[in-house]
Amino acid sequence: MPVMTPLLLATAFIFQLISPCLSVQTGSAGCGKALPEGLSPGGPSQNFTIESQSQTGGVIRRYLAHLPEQFDTTNTKSASLILAFHGQTQPARSMERITGLSTHFFNQDAIVVYPEGLDYQSPGQQWLGDPEAPPSSVIDDRVFANELLDELTSSLCIDESRIYVAGLSNGGGLTGLLACSPILNRRVAAFAGTAAAFYTDTSLTEPLFGAGCTPELSGGRKVPFMELHGLNDSVIAYDGDNAPAPNTIALPNWVGSWVEKNGCAKTRPETEILDGGNVTKCSWSCDGWEDVVVHYKINHFGHGWPSTAGQGEPFETLRLGPTTWNATSVILEWFSKWRLAVE
Ligand SMILES: *[C@@H]1O[C@H](CO)[C@@H](O)[C@H](O)[C@H]1NC(C)=O
Ligand SMILES: *[C@@H]1O[C@H](CO)[C@@H](O)[C@H](O)[C@H]1NC(C)=O
Ligand SMILES: *[C@@H]1O[C@H](CO)[C@@H](O)[C@H](O)[C@H]1NC(C)=O
Ligand SMILES: *[C@@H]1O[C@H](CO)[C@@H](O)[C@H](O)[C@H]1NC(C)=O
Repeated sequence: MPVMTPLLLATAFIFQLISPCLSVQTGSAGCGKALPEGLSPGGPSQNFTIESQSQTGGVIRRYLAHLPEQFDTTNTKSASLILAFHGQTQPARSMERITGLSTHFFNQDAIVVYPEGLDYQSPGQQWLGDPEAPPSSVIDDRVFANELLDELTSSLCIDESRIYVAGLSNGGGLTGLLACSPILNRRVAAFAGTAAAFYTDTSLTEPLFGAGCTPELSGGRKVPFMELHGLNDSVIAYDGDNAPAPNTIALPNWVGSWVEKNGCAKTRPETEILDGGNVTKCSWSCDGWEDVVVHYKINHFGHGWPSTAGQGEPFETLRLGPTTWNATSVILEWFSKWRLAVE
């Protein structure tokens, strides 16, 4: 009998049994191509644009890309990829700063791409899913995310079984929408939202996070989801009762919906009290999978990305100061448990 590591077990369960003796390390179509201009392993991040159909008639979309220091200079050894979506009115480079995902301390081996929302109308860069953003018939950021994955996998050597999505606030909302999409949730191994904004259907002109969330999970397929939220969040209230309105889905309801969608509703969550009592971690495991859905409830914490470092910008006051731990480490450790079997 082969020894089933949790990783292999996870892979086997979602798609098909892959014997390590018969599998080959495969990379994406970009493997072996010359590195895009300006990008070098561990070097500075670079701005890129793509022509996108995310807006009717076409539009130029922007993103910032970082290659980790361990990335192979010949672009022939595949690396994992993380897409990190910023909050409303934040430029992509501020998401890079806040998460620390391009730093040696947190990340030496994953490619990180920070897409930028369109600054289409007041109040600035934003993503589908916010009541102030245009509806999906005008701008559909799910289309952009899918095009971006096509572009990145065809220019960089990416392990397509290890693509992850993280997002903050409005970008956390988009993370939810990508998890809801049967196209995107077949390309992404795990999703993590922080201080995420999941608006109720009545807060929007179209249902997106409620009735519109149809991830098509049949046959035991899982969409691993993590959400971290401050109980003192004054922008996206934990109970969804925002002042000012409109309201978001209460976090227990959002998390519960993913427990249900993943078929884990019959199992009791495991609860851990961390950080000297300030953090409650709830996690649901089922069908032989650990931590399919994970939720961090953070006492005294406001709206933002938990980190020990100061962050400047509006988030520093909104989040009510630094924490004694880093959300980036928590998220990366959980991401590393998940991989898709590429069909
Ligand atoms: C990327 O674009 C931003 C906004 O235009 C700019 O501030 C930044 O310097 C650019 N970064 C690089 C590496 O060119
Ligand atoms: C957090 O919320 C609680 C309950 O509303 C309140 O008592 C407390 O003062 C708040 N803490 C901070 C730091 O805002
Ligand atoms: C819990 O959070 C409060 C507010 O940020 C902080 O003053 C306190 O030191 C924290 N407790 C621990 C054990 O970290
Ligand atoms: C959190 O991240 C910072 C780097 O931003 C690092 O210096 C610090 O040691 C980390 N703290 C913990 C508790 O991991």
